[in-house]
Amino acid sequence: MVKKEKVFVMGLGFIGLPLAVSLAEKTEVIGFDIRREVVDLVNKGNPHIFEPGLEETLKKVLKKGNFRATQLVSEMKGCKYIIITVGTPCDSQGVPILNQVESAAKSIGENLQKGQFIILKSTVPPLTTEEFVAPKLENLSRLKLGKDFGVAFVPERTVEGQAMKELKTLPKIIGGIDEKTNKEVSKLFKLLGGKIIPVSSPRIAEMVKLMDNTFRDVNIALANEFARAASVLGADVVEAIQAANADYPRNKIHTPGAGVGGSCLTKDPLILAHVSEKAGEPLPLIRVARKTNLEMPQRTFNLVQNMIKRNKRDFRNSKIAILGLSFKKDTSDLRETPSKVVYDLLNQTGAQISLYDRFAFAEEVHKLFKAQKSNTLEEAVKGADCLIIATDHSEFRELKLAKIKELMRTPCIVDGRHMISPHFALELGFDYEGIGRPKEAFERK
Ligand SMILES: NC(=O)c1ccc[n+]([C@@H]2O[C@H](COP(=O)([O-])OP(=O)(O)OC[C@H]3O[C@@H](n4cnc5c(N)ncnc54)[C@H](O)[C@@H]3O)[C@@H](O)[C@H]2O)c1
Repeated sequence: MVKKEKVFVMGLGFIGLPLAVSLAEKTEVIGFDIRREVVDLVNKGNPHIFEPGLEETLKKVLKKGNFRATQLVSEMKGCKYIIITVGTPCDSQGVPILNQVESAAKSIGENLQKGQFIILKSTVPPLTTEEFVAPKLENLSRLKLGKDFGVAFVPERTVEGQAMKELKTLPKIIGGIDEKTNKEVSKLFKLLGGKIIPVSSPRIAEMVKLMDNTFRDVNIALANEFARAASVLGADVVEAIQAANADYPRNKIHTPGAGVGGSCLTKDPLILAHVSEKAGEPLPLIRVARKTNLEMPQRTFNLVQNMIKRNKRDFRNSKIAILGLSFKKDTSDLRETPSKVVYDLLNQTGAQISLYDRFAFAEEVHKLFKAQKSNTLEEAVKGADCLIIATDHSEFRELKLAKIKELMRTPCIVDGRHMISPHFALELGFDYEGIGRPKEAFERK
């Protein structure tokens, strides 16, 4: 028998784990993952990812008995809701790789019971829920979609670093295959909070997710092109954007930076471009925007190269400190991080490189960079000839520049995230470059 509101979450990654423990504050939840180490850690109250508020909530729901993780897929039996939050990568052209969704759908199909609702939350191309997942479930279970079970797509729209807060406040788009599914799935997401927005089909909800991330990626690319223009024109792009956005309702110009990373913005626009192209409608703007954003780490490296040259140093006898390794502010997530591209380019120069990031896990840094991260910021910048701010971690807004200058051999800063005041840095005697913030823009004043 299906138990009222009991939930089974498949895939305890960056999205699945915060969702599972947030739901467990309100109802009974079982989390499932194919990785044993993840299940073991989670059951001990130690999340394998960093997300503010996650560890406390996990400990709370474990203690309350509302949550546990398992490797037994048959435990989905008796759960009214089964949520799929497995990974959906794509290749470099945007061709989606749906093998994790396929294997989750297979497990569900083999265990499906009447009265269950399957909710896909992994980002997928439009029509995946209706034409890929639902038929698999019907075929394997021999149950009838609509009559015996329901299927919905509910996009995950939280941002890493704020997931625990946003899960409770963001609007929830509910794309069920019929009205009954929308009603039942809405009941579950109402438990979390935030507005419920039912839509007419799963494909609309799937489109919403891809449009969300494409909108952001294209707008960041536009800001990056503004930065490129500002650099060659000797203007400060940050001052220009702030002035353009100030009290002007038609502008929401995004922030340029050292690159766009993470598992979503780097793939979702490509997936949309790919599926549309395949259906006969190319989307060139989306592809160009992706290319513009992909070039930003190289442009950041170019700024370092200029800086080293104009300070009459040689890379082979220089030390460069990279501050910020994760792709996003105040998170540990290293996926597709621009810092790694900057690091690889620097590595080819023969420079000594130090790495600093208080959030990124040491073993993950070692796995990706094949290098150790420094224990402290001071250790990373000591004797350095240039420091690069590659991630907008909050602590970098508070850098003690005077102290850092004393520690460095050559006081040069490349600010890839607009974290420090160029005026202040130049006044202190640093050489300075920022993305879209050429030194000359500040020297004239
Ligand atoms: N990370 C984000 O900020 C974010 C935001 C919105 C949407 N999304 C989407 O959410 C989905 C999940 O992303 P993520 O970042 O959490 O990925 P992730 O790689 O961190 O997590 C996926 C988890 O699924 C597990 N898994 C794989 N196959 C499985 C199976 N058959 N059964 C059970 N577990 C399985 C993996 O072991 C892993 O723990 C993706 O589609 C992504 O595009 C991610």
